[in-house]
Amino acid sequence: MCGIIGYIGYRKASEVLYSGLRTLEYRGYDSAGIATLDGGKISLIKDEGRIEQIHSKHNFFRLAGKIGIGHTRWATHGGVSQKNAHPHTDCKGRFCVVHNGVIENFDELRMSLIAQGHKLSSETDTEVVAHLFEEEAKKTKDASEAFSKAVSKLSGSWSLVAMREGEQAIYVSRNGSPLVLGIGSGEMFCASDIPALLPYTKEVVFLEDGDRAILTKNGYLIVGKDGKRQNRKVHTISWTANMAEKGGYPHFMLKEIAEQEEKMREALACDVSGAIRLLRNRKQLTVVACGTSYYAGLVLKTAMQCWLGLCVDVILGSEFAYMRTGKEKVVLAISQSGETADTLSAVRLAKKSGAKVIAVTNVAGSSLYREADANVMIGAGPEIAVVATKSFTCQVAALLKIALLLSGRKAELARLHALPELIGGVIRRSAEIQKIAKKLSGRRDFFFIGRSFAFPAALEGALKLKEITYLHAEAYAAGELKHGPLSLLEKDVVVLALAPSDGTLPKTISNIEECKARNATLMVLSDSKDALSKSELHFRMPSCDPFAVPILYAIPLQLLSYYMAVGLGRDPDKPRNLAKSVTVE
Ligand code: F6R
Repeated sequence: MCGIIGYIGYRKASEVLYSGLRTLEYRGYDSAGIATLDGGKISLIKDEGRIEQIHSKHNFFRLAGKIGIGHTRWATHGGVSQKNAHPHTDCKGRFCVVHNGVIENFDELRMSLIAQGHKLSSETDTEVVAHLFEEEAKKTKDASEAFSKAVSKLSGSWSLVAMREGEQAIYVSRNGSPLVLGIGSGEMFCASDIPALLPYTKEVVFLEDGDRAILTKNGYLIVGKDGKRQNRKVHTISWTANMAEKGGYPHFMLKEIAEQEEKMREALACDVSGAIRLLRNRKQLTVVACGTSYYAGLVLKTAMQCWLGLCVDVILGSEFAYMRTGKEKVVLAISQSGETADTLSAVRLAKKSGAKVIAVTNVAGSSLYREADANVMIGAGPEIAVVATKSFTCQVAALLKIALLLSGRKAELARLHALPELIGGVIRRSAEIQKIAKKLSGRRDFFFIGRSFAFPAALEGALKLKEITYLHAEAYAAGELKHGPLSLLEKDVVVLALAPSDGTLPKTISNIEECKARNATLMVLSDSKDALSKSELHFRMPSCDPFAVPILYAIPLQLLSYYMAVGLGRDPDKPRNLAKSVTVE
């Protein structure tokens, strides 16, 4: 969702903002803009469309100045248009602001500003902030104070970054949406996400909710919600700038799929001791997560319930408020970004009623990381493509490690270490998947089926396919087909059957037969000759433990979605309507 970048220092701001916005593209957006301050005056370029298109139409680099703010917008209030794109300014263009989040009381503020004579030119919730800043600046010469007063009138969620004509400073505020400061030498940055800062600095400060800060080229000053100066911890980021580059691959998604052999080693080496401490001797565990991370949670549920007899409730972040008992003792939250609003709000609710929180995340210093009592870092490195690939397999690896350790399954844990090699082997056979993708081109309906550990893998496979190809894809526990979905099967419908040779195989083969009998097109993924022989269209999988199936079978499914999306002319890195980091509820 909306991406923010701010710069003050000695470089040409428009260049820093442009490259920052390009890096933040993965968050998802429909319009973009930048504003710089030069000779005390604000100049601005914004429009709808892709950053590259806007740049070739308007040329961002014609804006001079060494201070500036930039934004990619993912529309919430008001349609996709030039006037609704950020930055937004006050009546005279002297104050300007970019925003990520939702100002909940904007209607009321808007009415009152209009009554005071302000002319608002967009339909956004954000614009009121620029006008409030203008209004407050009439009462004090201190721009920082005026900005604080303006912010104090808001309710909702935001990360806000603002400038005022004539001031050599950037004003920022955070409440519920991510914002990180980057510390340079003679320069300062702020951004929604770390990758935008990596070319310039590894020293970062994560703002807390309620923080306001003023950035100058020589440093920063943070004031907390209590109005007192705060010394927030400076984190040194281990990620490098080239981790967030394509590195010769046509798409980030393909690069991230290919990285899984190496990233799996890092995930398996993750420190789970804090999680184990909180989970030992528990009888019940609540897991909260969204999307792909939720499916990783289902793998944990299968493992913990089978191996430990532990009762595991896996609840979607957005449903937690309606399903919780209020008696949760430990909540394990899974989130690649650590910024997903639904997951965070679930965690905050659980904490209020006294639950301890374990975070399984990819981003050190993220909101979830800071809320948690124990952190498990999955070690996937920056994931830039909007859809999750390596973060899913790394999450599952970290979660299995927890379950295997808790249940004392040392031999099985040792066998997990064979996975990187197996993953590499599947990736090196990408050409086979590419051929299958070609054979399936033109098909519009896909059903993914699997049992036990293969079921979350089927769910994840269907999610990947629909996200980036925009084709209809859904997943079922293989035994569920006969309870309804079989009525949809006919000649052109494709059934992707995940049929590992474990205890589930005979029943899955029966389900495959059911689909064949309805003339569906079958594509079988299996390590069993029997299962593979059921369909001409198949992919031979290496044999693995049943619990490793969600990891290993995810790889060909990711590749299949990727090649099908490319075949359809879609951009697999930036699927329509989707955002990487979903920071609104
Ligand atoms: C799917 C995908 C989303 C995310 C979901 C949660 O490819 O990327 O479904 O998994 O938005 O995101 P995180 O894990 O960052 O909380």
